[in-house]
Amino acid sequence: MAFNSFATVDDVGTGEDHAEAPAAEICDAARHNGGTQLVRPAAEYLPSYRAALERGWSPNTVNPAAGWIELDRIHADPVAFLNAQDDPHAKGEPITLPDGSVVPRLPGYRRWIWDGKLAGVVSLRWQPGSAALPQHVLGHVGYTVVPWKRGRGYATAALRDLLPEVGVLGLPHVELSTDVGNLASQHVIMANGGVLVERFNKPAAFGPDSFALRWRIMLDQ
Ligand SMILES: CC(C)(COP(=O)(O)OP(=O)(O)OC[C@H]1O[C@@H](n2cnc3c(N)ncnc32)[C@H](O)[C@@H]1OP(=O)(O)O)[C@@H](O)C(=O)NCCC(=O)NCCS
Repeated sequence: MAFNSFATVDDVGTGEDHAEAPAAEICDAARHNGGTQLVRPAAEYLPSYRAALERGWSPNTVNPAAGWIELDRIHADPVAFLNAQDDPHAKGEPITLPDGSVVPRLPGYRRWIWDGKLAGVVSLRWQPGSAALPQHVLGHVGYTVVPWKRGRGYATAALRDLLPEVGVLGLPHVELSTDVGNLASQHVIMANGGVLVERFNKPAAFGPDSFALRWRIMLDQ
């Protein structure tokens, strides 16, 4: 998912309706898992999130500058930044694809992977009433772990913790995409029951001859 190409964690969240978000409600009981939990972005976690950005980490693996942009937003209005992490009604700004084209935002939200400090981000986006996604949206779920905490099972646990929330939305499955060479992400998906669907060429907006793998995880209904 950032979407190393696909599902970039950056595609979600610039909404304003934090308090009424059904996604936020279902995340209220953050589940503990192997020393990590998914937390709804909140003021108490923000200093650690900001510190990770200041170390040069970008939550968007496609855009290394995204971290600095987020730091500016946090500095300008931390409350608005936090509220924007929950956008289940797609009220945020449209999405700009790598070729500069602009597409509508889907409903979505982010959760922060927390082990006592910020460890990463997992994001979800969906199309209401459908498991299908527009062609330019390469997956429902995206995740990234800060480089200094990789290899500890954090992404595997984060995806496992997120899936029950997706089921509440009524989706029968989620799709994820990985770059062909992103073996770590492929391990994360397979450890969560994901199966390979196809190898495909990403839409032209992502560049010419840009191949990826599409994965599917079936959800218990
Ligand atoms: C992909 C990513 C999220 C994995 O996070 P993580 O917390 O280190 O993942 P986990 O520790 O839960 O699991 C990683 C798995 O990949 C395996 N792995 C890691 N590097 C590998 C490599 N180079 N080759 C093969 N397997 C590898 C690990 O052994 C582990 O598998 P296992 O549990 O079967 O042993 C992290 O590397 C990352 O943030 N990358 C940049 C962003 C990104 O690529 N996001 C996903 C886009 S699709």
